[in-house]
Amino acid sequence: MTTPTISTTPALDLTYVRSQFPSLAQSVNGSPAVFFDGPGGTQVPQRVIDAIANYLRHDNANTGGAYATSRRTDAMIAEARAAMADFLHCGADEVAFGPNMTTLTFAVSRALGRDLGPGDEIVLTRLDHDANFSPWLQMAEDRGVTVRIAEIHNNNCTLDLADLASKINEKTKLVAVGYASNAVGTINPVKVIVKLAHAAGALAYIDAVHYGPHGLIDVAALDCDFLACSTYKFFGPHMGVLYGKREHLQRLRPYKVRPLTENIPYRWEWGTLNHENIAAITACVDYFADLGRHAATKNRMADPARFSLGGNNDTQLSPRRAAIEAAYAAIHEHERALTERMMAGLSKIPRLKIYGITDPARFNDRCATFAVRIDGHTPLEIATKLGDHGFFTWDGNYYALNLTEHLDVEKSGGFLRIGLVHYNTAEEVDRFLLALQEIVKS
Ligand SMILES: Cc1ncc(COP(=O)(O)O)c(C=O)c1O
Repeated sequence: MTTPTISTTPALDLTYVRSQFPSLAQSVNGSPAVFFDGPGGTQVPQRVIDAIANYLRHDNANTGGAYATSRRTDAMIAEARAAMADFLHCGADEVAFGPNMTTLTFAVSRALGRDLGPGDEIVLTRLDHDANFSPWLQMAEDRGVTVRIAEIHNNNCTLDLADLASKINEKTKLVAVGYASNAVGTINPVKVIVKLAHAAGALAYIDAVHYGPHGLIDVAALDCDFLACSTYKFFGPHMGVLYGKREHLQRLRPYKVRPLTENIPYRWEWGTLNHENIAAITACVDYFADLGRHAATKNRMADPARFSLGGNNDTQLSPRRAAIEAAYAAIHEHERALTERMMAGLSKIPRLKIYGITDPARFNDRCATFAVRIDGHTPLEIATKLGDHGFFTWDGNYYALNLTEHLDVEKSGGFLRIGLVHYNTAEEVDRFLLALQEIVKS
C-alpha cells in the first residue's frame, strides 16, 4: 500500500456547513457528539426543520381540495417534485414519493412481477442491502422466476463484474444493483451494469440510498430504468423517492386503489403521503444548491474548472442542478481527504481488519464508510464504548445480510461501521482514532 497524501486545504467551509446543522452541537457525557452514523440516517439543516414546522403551521391539508391550504399543499408537492427532478436530473413526472426506499421497491417489484413468470430470470447481487434483494426474491418466488446472484471479490468487497456479466442472458428481465454498499462503502460501476442489462433487453433498478449523500446522481447519464433513494440519508426528511423512466411508469401496472388517477407519477403514490416531510424535500435540495454556490465561490479561485457553476458544459442544466453538481464536487474532495485520514489511522491499529477497498489508488471507488472488526472485541462492545464517549457508530449487518453471511461475520456480530459524511471533520477523525486506540488497548 502506498503512503496516502493527506489534503490540508478543505474543499468545504466546515464552519458554514456545520452552522447549518443544529444537532451537531450536542454533547455526550461532556464530550462533543461525533456523528459517524450517517449511513443509518444523517442530521438535517435548520431549513429542513423549519420547512416541516411551517407546513404544519400554515398549509396542513389533504391534496386536491377546492380551498387555500389544499391548493398550497398541491403546489408544495409540485415544488418538491421539481426539486427532486433537479437533484436526480430527470423530469418532474418521473419522480414518485413514498415512505421509504424499501416500500417503493416492494411496490415496483410487485408491478414488474405481474408480467413475469417461469422461464424469466432476474439478477441480484451479494453486495446489496436487503431492500434491493428481498422484494425481488419474494416476487420471484411468487411468479416462478429464476434468481441469479452476482458474487463479490472477497479481498476488497467489490462486485465481480465478470460473474455479473456471465449471469445476464436473453432470459434476464431485471438487474437490481446498489450504487454503493451501505456496509463496506464500495461504489459499483452502475453505468456499466446498466449497459450490460440493456444489451440483454433487461431493465436496471438502482438502489442509490447509500450513494446519495456522497456522490452526484444523474439518472439521465446512467440511463437506468429505475432508481430509488431516501432523503433521510442525505440531510433531508424521512422519505423515499423513486425515479422511473416515463415510459415504464406509464406502461407497468402498479397495484393501486381504483379512484387513484392513472396519470404519472401519481399512480405510483399510494394513500395520503407525509406532506410535512415532502415540504422538507425542497429545503433539503436547496441546502445542496446553496452549499454548491458557497463552495463554488470559495473554491473557484483555486480551481475554476472543477468548482464552476456551469456544470459539465451542459447548457440545459437548471441553475439549481448546476449548483448541486458544484456541491458534490466539493463534498467529494472533502470526503476523499477524510477517507485518506481515516484509512491511514485505522491501518495502524493492531488486530484491526478493514473490509472493502483499502488501496488509495481505488479510493474513488469507495465512499467514506468503513466496516471493521478488531480481534478480541465484538462490534457491539466497541460501538457501545465509543457511544459512551460521544462517537456514534453502528454495529451488526445494517441489513446487508447477504454480505455478512458470505464473509462469515454474521454470527459474531457483523462489523463496526464508521460512516462519515461531509459535515464531519478531520479533527473528529483524529479524536475518533485516539479513542478507538484506547478502547482496543483495554
Ligand atoms: C443501501 C441501502 N439500501 C436501502 C436501504 C433502505 O432504505 P429505506 O430505509 O429508505 O427503506 C438502506 C437503509 O439503510 C440502505 O443503506
